[in-house]
Amino acid sequence: MFNARTDWSASNEARTEYRTFSVETLTPHIGAVVRDVDLAQPLSDERAQDIHDAWLDWKVLLFRDQRIDREQHKAFARRFGSLHVHPMQHIRGGDPEILVVKTTRNSPYTAGDGWHTDVTCDEIPPLGSMLYLTEMPESGGGDTLFADMYLAFEMLSEPMQAFLEGLTAVHDGAGPYVGSYKSTPPEGGYPRSEHPVVVRHPGTGRKVLFVNRGFTSHIVGLNAPESRALLNMLYRHIDSTPRLWCRVEWAANTLAFWDNRCTQHHAIWDYYPHSRYGERVSIYGNERPVA
Ligand code: SIN
Repeated sequence: MFNARTDWSASNEARTEYRTFSVETLTPHIGAVVRDVDLAQPLSDERAQDIHDAWLDWKVLLFRDQRIDREQHKAFARRFGSLHVHPMQHIRGGDPEILVVKTTRNSPYTAGDGWHTDVTCDEIPPLGSMLYLTEMPESGGGDTLFADMYLAFEMLSEPMQAFLEGLTAVHDGAGPYVGSYKSTPPEGGYPRSEHPVVVRHPGTGRKVLFVNRGFTSHIVGLNAPESRALLNMLYRHIDSTPRLWCRVEWAANTLAFWDNRCTQHHAIWDYYPHSRYGERVSIYGNERPVA
């Protein structure tokens, strides 16, 4: 368990110095490279607490030049919770706690090539994910964009914020997993859940815009044209406001750890016909998203 932050401020003045490392930031509000941490070495409680705090501050942490195996990757993730099993595991097979993220010239799609928050179709979506990339395209490319969903909410007008705060949306796994990836659902179908459109982050108490193009199918109680227009406006806000984003330029052996409760991401498939390989571990959330 981690100590709760008591000094959280909604300003963008997050720390860059922690007790056991410093960070180099990608933008003033999202994304930071953690310096001088070797994930192959045992992680002290003090350093794990620092990583937890920096993760709340910066939303996306990068650990560069790491040499870890699967068990070390999973052990690091377990410091933050138990390991998630992806809803498409019945098709993927292999280690249920590892999601292989592999794109080659023969891939019909690349995972995550569109703005989304991981697995929000789950009743309790993962609280975070750790993606460790070990093979990058020799052509260059293969970056990932991350968006700050606190800021996405804060940039909306007050009347729009107030309107959204009363709404609930449906998040449906069939959208991406059947619609985009053409997979056969498991018995009983893919998960489908309702979440408030604006949720409070359990670690910071800040409000988050919590709809995403990947999973959110519609807003409860609006008619279909209203729901579609509202969601399109919000998706357009996210994908046309570069100020919300940081761009992660990967190098082989980089591990990214993102807070899935306050971010969205978009993997960019700009490297065809080259290949990219990594493995992702996600961490179960502790509680349903609440307003
Ligand atoms: C994902 O987790 O959505 C994949 C991200 C990536 O491959 O950069």
